[in-house]
Amino acid sequence: PAQRQTPPSIRARKGGEPLVCLTAYDAPTAALLDPHCDLLLVGDSLGMVVHGLPNTIGVTLEMMILHGRAVMRGSSRALVAIDMPFGSYEKSREQAFENAARVLAETGAQAVKLESGVYAGDTIRFLAERGIPVIGHVGLRPQAALADGGFKAKGKTEAERARVLDEARAADAAGAFAIVVEGVAQDLAEEITDTVSAPTIGIGASARCDGQILVTNDMLGQTGRVPKFVRKFADMRALTEDAVKAYAEAVRARTFPGGDHVYGAKRG
Ligand code: KIV
Ligand code: NA
Repeated sequence: PAQRQTPPSIRARKGGEPLVCLTAYDAPTAALLDPHCDLLLVGDSLGMVVHGLPNTIGVTLEMMILHGRAVMRGSSRALVAIDMPFGSYEKSREQAFENAARVLAETGAQAVKLESGVYAGDTIRFLAERGIPVIGHVGLRPQAALADGGFKAKGKTEAERARVLDEARAADAAGAFAIVVEGVAQDLAEEITDTVSAPTIGIGASARCDGQILVTNDMLGQTGRVPKFVRKFADMRALTEDAVKAYAEAVRARTFPGGDHVYGAKRG
């Protein structure tokens, strides 16, 4: 079987060919993405994208593990990283270690990602030193949506810029092997990328990062309203609507199932 990307092979891409990353939540989609991606993230965005939650606050460790196992079954080349959900890692570094170890043991994935305010440097170091590869996540941190009053781009004031840069420095110094940078102005993304030794993976952070990630359902046009930074590379909503309409009409007109779709009776 093909060798998967590893934390060191991802880290070695700093300043090189951009890392291609997407989210994945299920096995068949992971199988379609895997040949084209360096990294598949089982993002806690699955709470909103798959489960219809208003934000990621209600996502549980059990949900992450269930979807993580499916994505591992569907992929063989990409590194699979799994988001630590809200409430599973913030209380203490010991809590973070126990839950991250469980996620890796029960899914077979190679890394976890956690939304990393400056405070999280301590936790990232604790995990990394004990054999848990960690990806940091700075800038717009969706798990802070309640405190922030929604999903807000970061770095519009000098104080905010300094704080996001500190978050990235903290994750880097603590041993994160990659850092997701979300929802920041291009010049701040550039400054972070030039400052940290780990590759930066941008989402809403310009092409000046060491790689890019998007929520797959957003870039496929499966979700409704999407953030400004998303390009829809397909319009799966329109395709799906057309297909379902055609199916409904065919059923009502009794033109489906047709002769090709029925089993012949064996007689005599
Ligand atoms: O949950 C998620 O999908 C993410 C990325 C989009 C970075 O954290
Ligand atoms: Na996430």
